[in-house]
Amino acid sequence: PDAVPGFAAPTVHTQEAHHPINSDFTARWTRADAMQLQAMSDPTAGSRENSMPTEYTMPTVSQDFPDMSNDQVWVWDTWPLTDERSHQYSVLGWEVVFSLVADRSLGFDERHQFARIGYFYREAGIPADERPENGGWTYGGLLFEDGVTGVIFDDQSFSHQTEWSGSARVFPDGTVKLFFTDVAFYRDASGADIKPYDPRIALSIGTIHADDDGVSFTGFDAVTDLLQADGRWYQDGDQNPYFNFRDPFTFEDPAHPGETFMVFEGNSAVERGSRSCTVEDLGYAADDPHAEDLTEVMDNGAVYQMANVGLAVAENDDLTAWRFLPPILSANCVTDQTERPQIYIKDGKYYLFTISHRSTFAWGMDGPEGVYGFVGDGIRSDFQPLNRGSGLALGNPTNLNYLQGNPFDPDFNQHPGAFQAYSHYVMPNGLVQSFIDTIGTTDNFRRGGTLGPTVRLIISGTTAMVDRDYGDVGLGGYADIPADRNLVPTFSD
Ligand code: FRU
Repeated sequence: PDAVPGFAAPTVHTQEAHHPINSDFTARWTRADAMQLQAMSDPTAGSRENSMPTEYTMPTVSQDFPDMSNDQVWVWDTWPLTDERSHQYSVLGWEVVFSLVADRSLGFDERHQFARIGYFYREAGIPADERPENGGWTYGGLLFEDGVTGVIFDDQSFSHQTEWSGSARVFPDGTVKLFFTDVAFYRDASGADIKPYDPRIALSIGTIHADDDGVSFTGFDAVTDLLQADGRWYQDGDQNPYFNFRDPFTFEDPAHPGETFMVFEGNSAVERGSRSCTVEDLGYAADDPHAEDLTEVMDNGAVYQMANVGLAVAENDDLTAWRFLPPILSANCVTDQTERPQIYIKDGKYYLFTISHRSTFAWGMDGPEGVYGFVGDGIRSDFQPLNRGSGLALGNPTNLNYLQGNPFDPDFNQHPGAFQAYSHYVMPNGLVQSFIDTIGTTDNFRRGGTLGPTVRLIISGTTAMVDRDYGDVGLGGYADIPADRNLVPTFSD
């Protein structure tokens, strides 16, 4: 894409594929790329207006949203049962999703230390507009008994032990392999870290059962520790007590049959605050009049935001042993979090989607809460950020001319939808589900803790745009996560 007047041009990316296992090529989401987010923002947008292009903006969600758990639990990150190509399965006619859940007696912002994985089910095959407004799910309860996910930690003196996001693979015999983030916190009574928290990518195996009454699981009574941040490619707790390492998503690549891969959220493995960004991370052409100066960028603290998207490959067919490969994307001096990454294959192209927050962008960078997307010719490519070179695939309505505030205190002048959706997951046919964090402004807002309306992205080439013909002017059913396949397991009961 060409430069917007007054802004630097985005970096040129070839989309060329490199071998996922044998190459150490890591694509860069550069500052020049992410600067396009500000280049596309309307500097004249007034109080509570959206400053971002409509085609990349989720339609505004009403404050009057229904709750999918009928007030039983807080719900946020959610994922379906998938196969190696990310098809979504119902089992014997029941759709199933896994969600991070927490007790409603907690404040919604306290959820992270108390997250447990729960599940919901509903009958498959009913159009969204014929279901109850809240999606019509039945809450099935927690997946793990108390204590099961704490066993893997050598140091049992944790103050909090919690279950964070992942993904679930279903197999023809009804086996479910749940890849998730098993986390221990070591905090004192005042909430300060005694030592860094310990997030591990883990696996637990169970079996799904379904009959006329609904869905249940057996198994999930043991956990295998798969991966711990290595400090070589993936920043660890010695390098930065606030490191990010989580959210495994597994898939197969048709170009490399017989291998199973995993993408996950990481950080570049450098000492926290070290002056580790490079001119390549900035990504400006040498003669660009609007290029930033590397020293100035680092002096201003952008070095504290060093996200990456990690890659691992399974070492056995059971998917119980994995090894790290070099990251497929870095966002050094751009943002600190590239969360819940996933690979989406369409028309022979490989799309990497990952979620990020406005608040995790580095100094001098800005962009909405949302899902960011990159396209290339393979899972390890010189990824081209979607949509005018920026990376923004689907943002919340946001006004970059005003502060964001916080979900518990959204800015008075901000668009009321700036926190309306997070933790997006891109599903078959471009459908996107996400949870509601906050809707409103400081004088009048409502917290979410339930899934928002599903929307649809039209994904093609280097663009992704909101389909406003889907649902009600772009907004589909709440908590609508439809299966595109049904499994009749080979087990008999
Ligand atoms: C995204 C996220 C995930 C993490 C979970 C913890 O909403 O930050 O990366 O697994 O929430 O609550």
